[in-house]
Formats: sequence, C-alpha cells, structure tokens
Amino acid sequence: KYASTMNPSKRDGFTSKFGVLVATLGSAVGLGNIWKFPSLTGVNGGAGFLLVYLLATLMVGLPLMMAETTLGRAARANAITTFDRLAPRQHGWKLIGWMGFLSALLIMAFYSEVAGWVYAYIFKAMSGEVLTSDPKIAGEIFGALVSNPTSSLIWQWVVLGITGSIIMLGVSKGIEAVTRKLMPVLYILLLVLCARSLTLEGAARGLTFLFSPDFSKITPTVVLTAFGLAFFKLSLGMGTMLTYGSYFREDQNIPATTTRVMLADLSVSLLAGIAIFPAVFAFGFEPAAGPSLVFMTIPAVFTAMPGGIVFMTIFFILTAIASVGAILSLLEVPVAILSERFGMGRKKASTCTILTIALIGAPAALSQGVLAETKLFGMNAFELFDFLSSNVLLPLGGILICLFVGWVYGLPELEKRLSNEGTLDNRGLIRAVFFLVRYVAPLSIAIVLLHGLKVF
Ligand code: PHE
Repeated sequence: KYASTMNPSKRDGFTSKFGVLVATLGSAVGLGNIWKFPSLTGVNGGAGFLLVYLLATLMVGLPLMMAETTLGRAARANAITTFDRLAPRQHGWKLIGWMGFLSALLIMAFYSEVAGWVYAYIFKAMSGEVLTSDPKIAGEIFGALVSNPTSSLIWQWVVLGITGSIIMLGVSKGIEAVTRKLMPVLYILLLVLCARSLTLEGAARGLTFLFSPDFSKITPTVVLTAFGLAFFKLSLGMGTMLTYGSYFREDQNIPATTTRVMLADLSVSLLAGIAIFPAVFAFGFEPAAGPSLVFMTIPAVFTAMPGGIVFMTIFFILTAIASVGAILSLLEVPVAILSERFGMGRKKASTCTILTIALIGAPAALSQGVLAETKLFGMNAFELFDFLSSNVLLPLGGILICLFVGWVYGLPELEKRLSNEGTLDNRGLIRAVFFLVRYVAPLSIAIVLLHGLKVF
C-alpha cells in the first residue's frame, strides 16, 4: 500500500499527497530539531538567536524550499542533472549539484556520529544508568561514551550499516510508513516533557532565556549560525529538496506543502527547546554546553517523572527513528548522482557512499576523545565539518540556487510551475516568492556569509 505512494501511476489523491508531505517532513525533522537547535540556541545566547533563525526561515528558508522543490519537479532528476536539463547551455550551474554531493558527505560524517550517540543512549536509558539530574554525573556519563574511540566508531558504523542497507534496498517507503505512525508519538512525548519541564521549580528562567531576546548577544557569527541552521533544518542549499521535489506529483501544491513542512518542523524544534531550557536552569546545567546539552538535560527531565526509564527509552528510540528519515534524504543526494550519472547500480552507489562517509566520519567520531586537540582553524574535525557544511556550503548553495531561479529560470516559468499551470490561484504569493528569491535572499545570505566569515 505504502510502496505505491511515490509511483505516479498507482497513487490516489489524498494518501499520496500526504505521503509526499511525510517524506519531505521526514527529511526536515531529525537531529536538527532535538539536538542541533537546542545546543546552538544555548551556545548563541538564546532568544536573540531564535529570533534571527525565525527571520531566516521565513524570509529565506521557505522561499528557497519552494524554489528547490520546483526545480526538482520540473527536471525530475538528481541534483546535478537537474541543471543540465533546466539550463542545457550554461554548464556552470552544475556546480550546485557537486557542492551538494560534498555537503551530504560532510554532514553525514558528524550526523552519523550524533545518531550513534542516540542509539547508545537507548541502551543507557533502558539500564537506568543515565537517569540523573546532577550536571556533573550526567557530564561524566556523556563524556565517557564520546571519548571512547572504540564505542564512538562502532556506534557510527552501526548507524551507517542500518541506514546504508535501507537505502541500498530502496525500501525508504517502508520507513516512511513507520515514520508516519511514530512521529506523532514523538510529538506527544515532547509535549509531555514540556509539561514536566515547565512545572519544575525555576522553569521561568529557561523561558526567559528562550523567548526574551538580548540584542547585544546578536553578533555576525550568531547571525551566520542562525542562517546556517535555517538551511540545515529544512535540508536546503545542497540538493536534498531538489531531489525530493523530483518525486513530487504534478498536482502537488508546492507552496502549501512546503509551508506545512516548515511549520511542523519549527514546532518540533520549539517543543524541544521548551522541554530543555527550563530544565537547564532548574537543575543548574550550563546552557552553552554545546553538543552534550540534550544528552544531559533530557534524562534530567525524565528523572522528575514517574515511569521515567520507560519514557526515556521510548524517547531515544523515537529520536533515532526521526534521524533515519533525515539520513536517508542526505544519502539520497550522492546515491542518486552516482547511480544516475555514473551508471552505478544502486547497491554499488550506496556502498561507495557509506564507505566514504565511514572514512571521513572517523576523525569526526574520534574528535571528542583521542583527536580532540587535532585542530584546523581552531576547530576539531567534528566542528570543522559542521561549520564547513552549515555555515559555508549550504548558504553558498542557497545563494546559487536563488540566483539560478531569480535570474535564469525566471518569473514566467516559476509562475507556471508554482501555480501548477494556472490551476492554483496564487499569483500574488508567487510574485512575493520570486522577489525574495531574486533579490532579498541572495543579498542577505551573501552579507551574512561574508560578515560571519569576517571577510569584511
Ligand atoms: N534537516 C535535517 C535535520 O534537521 C538534516 C538534513 C540536512 C537533512 C540537510 C538533509 C539535508 O536533522
């Protein structure tokens, strides 16, 4: 039943449009919401960062998401071939696809490591070992896991093995079926966590931190990081949404679908923030703890709840499942390119991709322990891959895609595509999107990028 959702000949109206929505949402929602959003918000000073992130999502992220999916649906191809088809005489645009290829590998190198931590925490949650609200003990448990080279590598390989075999067999639709059923459960669990966290003593300070901006904390680096997160969150600037757009139906209402995905994704991030920050202040954690924040605070909230061990185990299982949808969409970019452009079979393309990631992922996995002091530009491998992808490659890809749509693809074509050949009555909206994509987005991303990288 579910296997037919992507198949144009078999799918029926509602279910399949819903299937597309779920797949796209599956790519957007992942560790970005549960892990990256809270840790970046903590490191970058809270509400001010959140505000910039919201602006970036609305003014740049959403229009870019519409543009990307439109291009993909128009070309019905992988991220590189899309530009061959849409601009056959201007070969340079293909660079966008190659940058996406590279971004996917770099993101996977650290994303698979964080997913590995989540898998490991499933078992630690089950044993009750992590059930503590003492910041010192929580820090030690997390530190012991990530600094151990063997367990770091093995958990990363477990993640790569599982997701690699899924993508190889092409059963991603089965995963979507699972995702569709389980994501609402994650959502409900987050709501319960929020309720618990908000009723802790001292919760108010967490809310102030999250929602009451201190404008003095908004520096160029903070702005760049917020923009980077907006791209990362909605899987933009690297061909994922191009590739997913190529699976969209002709009658899919792209503006409506992308807006829903953006809103749903945002609400998951906000719930994660509301679950975490009150607890951070109530239990005396450090908001700027970075990547370890979620792994320390979430268990702390569960300690204060009846049935904590059971719920916490379920929470980490669901987070692991949420990460699968995002990982599959990351892997799909190189796998589609290798199989469609280099004539590799799907199995071979998947194997090559996974092995490459395991190779460049190893320094990222070891960067919390033995390689912690091996740095380039003051960053260890984990931080460097994250920085290069989110704060450099995705914004750059975003600028190029905007320029392509705004200045090469053009308004008439965009209007035709986004209105489904005139069947949707949304001309005003399309014009606004075009204006954002042609001028506002590329200019603002460029300024943020150059400023954030201290070029001027
Ligand atoms: N959006 C995903 C998340 O937030 C990560 C991702 C980035 C997926 C880029 C695909 C492409 O977890």
